[in-house]
Amino acid sequence: MGEILAGLIDVERDGAGITLTRQLYDQLRATMLSGAWPPGHRLPSSRELARQLGVSRNTVSGVIDQLAMEGYLDVAHGRRPVVATGAAVTLVGGRAIADRAAKPLRVSRWAGRLRDADWPFREGPPRPLAPAHADARMFPHDIWARCLRRAARQAPHGVAAVNRASLRAALLRHLVEHRGVRAEAHQIIILPSTQSAIELIARVVLDAGDVAWVESPGYGGARAAMRAAGAEVRGVKLDRSGLCWTGRRDSPRLIFVTPSHQHPTGRLMPISRRRELLRFASTARAAVIEDDYDSEIHYDGRPIAALQGLDEAGRVFYVGTFSKSTFADIRCGYAIVPAELVEVFEKAQRHSGQIMPIPVQDALAEFIDDGHFAAHIRKMTRIYRARRDLLIEALATFAGAHLTVEPPAGGVQLVAYLDPRCDDRAISARLAAAGVTARPLSPHFTGEIGGQGLFLGFAAWDDTEIDTAAATIGRVLGEMAAPARKRRPKA
Ligand SMILES: Cc1ncc(COP(=O)(O)O)c(C=O)c1O
Repeated sequence: MGEILAGLIDVERDGAGITLTRQLYDQLRATMLSGAWPPGHRLPSSRELARQLGVSRNTVSGVIDQLAMEGYLDVAHGRRPVVATGAAVTLVGGRAIADRAAKPLRVSRWAGRLRDADWPFREGPPRPLAPAHADARMFPHDIWARCLRRAARQAPHGVAAVNRASLRAALLRHLVEHRGVRAEAHQIIILPSTQSAIELIARVVLDAGDVAWVESPGYGGARAAMRAAGAEVRGVKLDRSGLCWTGRRDSPRLIFVTPSHQHPTGRLMPISRRRELLRFASTARAAVIEDDYDSEIHYDGRPIAALQGLDEAGRVFYVGTFSKSTFADIRCGYAIVPAELVEVFEKAQRHSGQIMPIPVQDALAEFIDDGHFAAHIRKMTRIYRARRDLLIEALATFAGAHLTVEPPAGGVQLVAYLDPRCDDRAISARLAAAGVTARPLSPHFTGEIGGQGLFLGFAAWDDTEIDTAAATIGRVLGEMAAPARKRRPKA
C-alpha cells in the first residue's frame, strides 16, 4: 500500500498554517481529479491511511466522510473507499479528461475582436512622460473628500435615478458656458468614463459590418470599441484642419472626431470644416461622436466652441471626461445624446450597468456648484501651460536634432515627430527601459502609417521630472541614431 501513497499524498504537521485535515482533503481530491486514481480505484482503509501518513484515524475518517458526501468516494461499512464513477476523472487514450477540460473556453467573436485590439491598457503609477494624465498630486483632495463625505451621509435610500439631476444640471451649466453645447439636462448621460460612452454609442448606433470612420492618427480606444461592435473601421487622413475626407467614396454610419484638440496631433478643426462635417454627416445619414476629452484646458487664444452646439440635425453625440480636468481615477465621463435617442440610450446604459456611483455623482455636483472645479481648472491651466513650454524647450535643448514638436494650444500632451525612417516602437521600448514613458505615434494610425513620433505628456510632471526625461530622450535618440549614421554609405 505504501507505493500507492508514495509521492501522491504527503501531509506535513507544520504545513504553513494549513490543518492536516485540509491538506489531506486537498491532496486526495486533487489526486482523483488528476486521473491518477480512476473511478473504481480502491483506496487503502482509513486505518491504513492513518498509519502510513502518521495522522490520527479520526482525521482520515473525517476527510473520507467529507469526500463521500461530495460524491468523490463511495463508502460502505467495513469496506475500503472506492473512487466514485463520474465524479473523478476518467482517462481517455491515456490522458485525463481534466487535461482536455483545462483548455481555455471558446470566447465570442466580440471578445476575440477585443483581444486583437491594438490599444494598450495602462495600469500602475504613471512615469514621466506618460501622456493622458493630469497631475493628480495637485488635485484638492481635502475639498473633494469633504464633498464625498457629505454625499455619502446624504445618500438616498432606495433606487435613485441613475443620472443624478444635480450633476446633470451642474455639468450642463459648465458645458454651456465653457464649451457652447446646446442641450437639455436630460440629454446628459453620466458614465464611468469617456471610453464607456464611446462603447455604448458604438453599440447603439452600429451593426456588424457597418463602416465607421476614425481619425488617422487617432484615439485607439474609439477604434477598439467600434471594431468590437463589429464595424469595419477605416482610418481617415488629416490635414491641417483635422479630418479630411475629400475624394472618399465610402459612406460611414459613424464618424469619430476630436475637433477641438485632435488626438494625438493637437490640431484644431476650424469652423468651416466643422460645418462641412455636419453637412456631410447629414447627407450620409451618419452619426458623429465628438470626443471633447481635454478642451477645458486651453492655453492660447480662445477655445473654439463644441461641434455639438452647431448641430441642427441631431447627429452629434458629445462625449467628455473628468479624467483630465480632475484626476484619472475619479472615473467619470459623460455623453450628451441627441434628444430622440435619450430613451434608448438610457435603456442601453441600465442594461449594461454602466452607472456611476450615486454618492460620487452628488459629490461632483457639489464640487462644481461650489466653484472648486472651475478654480482647479484655472489653476492647473497656468501650471500646465508652463510645463508645456518647459517640455518644448527641454526637447529642443536635448533632442532638437532628432525631433520636431507641434506645440498644442491646450490639453495635457504633445507629439514630437521623428524622422520617418525611425522605428518609434523600438525607441519607445528603449526609453521605457531607461525609465521614460513615451508612447509611439505609429500605433495611432488606422491603415497606412503616416509618420513616426513620440506621444508625450507634460501635465502630470514637475519641472525636474520633465527636464530629466527630456535629457533621457536626447541621450537615447542620440545612441539609436549614431549606429545608423555610421552605417550610411559615404556620398
Ligand atoms: C481622445 C481620448 N478620449 C478619451 C479618453 C479616455 O477618457 P476616459 O478616461 O474618460 O475613458 C482618452 C484618454 O486618454 C483620450 O485620449
